[in-house]
Amino acid sequence: MKLGFIGLGFAGYPLAVMFAQKFDVTGVDINEDKVGAINRGAYSCTEEGIEEMSRNAKMSATSDIRELKGCSIVFISLPSTQGDFSAIESSLESLDGFYTGDVVIMSTVYPGFTRRMQEKFRNIRLSFVPVRTFEGKVVRQFHEFPHIIGAFDEELFRRISSIFESLGCRTVKAVPPEKAELAKLFSNAFRQAEFALAGELGEIARLHGFEPEEIFRITNEGDPHRRIKKPGIWGGYCLPKDTKMLISHAKDKGHEPHLLQATEHVRMQLAKARAKRITEKHPGKALLFHGVTSKPIEEKIHDTRDSPVIDVIMLLKEKGCEIKIYDPNIPSAQLGKLASKLGVMVASEDDYGRCAVIRHENYDLQF
Ligand SMILES: NC(=O)c1ccc[n+]([C@@H]2O[C@H](COP(=O)([O-])OP(=O)(O)OC[C@H]3O[C@@H](n4cnc5c(N)ncnc54)[C@H](O)[C@@H]3O)[C@@H](O)[C@H]2O)c1
Repeated sequence: MKLGFIGLGFAGYPLAVMFAQKFDVTGVDINEDKVGAINRGAYSCTEEGIEEMSRNAKMSATSDIRELKGCSIVFISLPSTQGDFSAIESSLESLDGFYTGDVVIMSTVYPGFTRRMQEKFRNIRLSFVPVRTFEGKVVRQFHEFPHIIGAFDEELFRRISSIFESLGCRTVKAVPPEKAELAKLFSNAFRQAEFALAGELGEIARLHGFEPEEIFRITNEGDPHRRIKKPGIWGGYCLPKDTKMLISHAKDKGHEPHLLQATEHVRMQLAKARAKRITEKHPGKALLFHGVTSKPIEEKIHDTRDSPVIDVIMLLKEKGCEIKIYDPNIPSAQLGKLASKLGVMVASEDDYGRCAVIRHENYDLQF
């Protein structure tokens, strides 16, 4: 059986490689450099454990979507930034012109999107299976969480489910697909709410001069119903984006989602609290941020989308602070581009001696 994957990014590439351990996979991406590197076996990414799997993958890549013609199932993992689903829609439109098989949307979408696309494109059969793993951990978590199969009927559910099961994965039935679309948004909104609560309780502990972790340990000790998360900062491509998507969906349906809106407010408030503490501790000093991606440095991610560190940097820039950045996980060309976009400098080795160093470690800024 031949499978197609459109969108070979942080989520799509490792997923395609996982499927290519068993099936013949053709991957499609508009980034021709990436396509070339994949075909040469020279593509590297920060996904844990990907190198060996890539070597064993029965996979080729192309920029031409029409090469998916002979596939039985095409998976789509294209960006859905700020509710913009145009890349997904235009790929479906292209597929509808020459392909008549199953298409599985894996990108996170607005509830009802799969149905709207199915009504528009009649030659393809759509399902929705969200990616629920974390960035950089797609391979590791592929078998850990069950895959939610959002389908329009039982037969389609069984067909798509059997592909995942043939790779040893568990599945959960979600008929119709709106159930799966909501479940994906709920899982990220739930995580964001947990982080927001922990972050806010942490700030209250600090008002007493206590370390939040100690109060949380005392609160959680021996009580299975209390599991307060670690307090810290968070961001990344999925949690804020998907929570905002759910907020706007709830509003469209006539419900004011006060708690979800508060999580976004708390996220910014925590960034402000860190900016304030940094300037109080290091008045007038140049600041060097070591680790600027959306995850702490030990996670070895080079993705900076919606990075909470960048929120803090921008707040400090507004206060006139001199700022340098460095991140060993970001290739130097990407780091240079990021620095010029933020209007800061890339740090040199000497800067570590003369600046106050702020490290993004252990899910918070350490300074
Ligand atoms: N990053 C994650 O770990 C993660 C986790 C869960 C869910 N998701 C969801 O998966 C989807 C993809 O996210 P991502 O982080 O992999 O995005 P990404 O930006 O890393 O990857 C998207 C890929 O699609 C390619 N692309 C863009 N437009 C294209 C087009 N028209 N045709 C072909 N290729 C095109 C890009 O070149 C890129 O390689 C999003 O909806 C996201 O919310 C991602």
